[in-house]
Amino acid sequence: MTGKEFKYNARIIAFGKYVPDKVLDNKYFESIVDTTDEWIITRTGIRERRVLEKGATSDLAVNAIKDMVRRFNIDLDTIDVLIVATVTPDMFFPSTACVIMDKLEMEKSWGFDLSAACSGFVFACSVARSLIGGGIYKRVLVVGADKMSTITDYTDRNTCILFGDAGACVLFERTENKSDGILDEVLYCDGSGRNSLYMLGGGSLNPASHETVEKRWHYVYQDGKAVFKVAVIGMAEVAYELMARNNLKPDDVAYLVPHQANLRIIEATRERMGIGPEKVMVNIHKYGNTTAATIPLCLVDYYDEGKLKVGDNLILASFGAGYTWGGIYLKWSVE
Ligand code: UT7
Repeated sequence: MTGKEFKYNARIIAFGKYVPDKVLDNKYFESIVDTTDEWIITRTGIRERRVLEKGATSDLAVNAIKDMVRRFNIDLDTIDVLIVATVTPDMFFPSTACVIMDKLEMEKSWGFDLSAACSGFVFACSVARSLIGGGIYKRVLVVGADKMSTITDYTDRNTCILFGDAGACVLFERTENKSDGILDEVLYCDGSGRNSLYMLGGGSLNPASHETVEKRWHYVYQDGKAVFKVAVIGMAEVAYELMARNNLKPDDVAYLVPHQANLRIIEATRERMGIGPEKVMVNIHKYGNTTAATIPLCLVDYYDEGKLKVGDNLILASFGAGYTWGGIYLKWSVE
């Protein structure tokens, strides 16, 4: 499927981010589990991550949206739809989207949460593209926000060193320019991956009970090795597929914007694309894996460093629980 089939394209006109102040560095993890700074850096690339001490995922999102409003003077009443990509909603229901709309007094929007774990932002961009492309909606705000610290088991060295909390958002707007904004996408799911990365407790399968708490089922479980093997292939292949079918040579790509789960997975994707390391957005060393927030957080960080320019060809790529994986080919449009 390509942008040609839509009436309009969806382009980014604004963005914002929020990371909490509290930093957990690798030394801290040396003090709570059997690990080393060196192991964490060489196996993952992570040096620090942030945690939100007070508040919920909606607060990460609200702060990111406020940052966007500050930067671009956006009137929130002009937003038609709010999509919140998250696996750590404030509650099962109402949706975190509703909580955010209430906190920000967004009375003119409708919205919903989207659950696709680390691919949440990429999947939400695809939905925004469709909502705008069909011609009914003009502005769709996509937020990736996760308070991973609430589902992280800080006694499990396999997972606790990986995750952090953050929120970031991008605002898509309708454009008639068919060469701007999202130009292509590839999205995949393979449900057989559900046995390698999950949170067992709290849902309708295993409602919260003394037993689920005792068994630590309210935390992320990951078979790291199994996920690594498929993530390395999945992320690289979607990025390559987008390049191949859009005739993009390595020189045409300004940046790969990968999900930040592991520097080695990012590196494998870069190699498959045949691009140099200077063309890869990386901030995993600062924030760890913030699930749905990693990709928009990268975009904002690189923009703030003056590294993004209008017309840049970006390849967004993700891999996450489900399994879910996918990529977006996007032309950058904010000066
Ligand atoms: O974001 C959504 C998708 N998720 C991913 O893409 C993550 C994919 N997986 C990974 O990134 C990696 O598998 C991890 C970073 C999670 C783990 O790295 P790894 O190189 O695959 O390590 P491993 O799980 O194969 O473990 C190697 C060894 C094991 O010890 P033995 O069995 O060889 O004695 C682990 O027990 O490292 C041990 N280990 C640790 N050692 C020190 C596991 N965690 C730690 C730790 N510190 N924190």
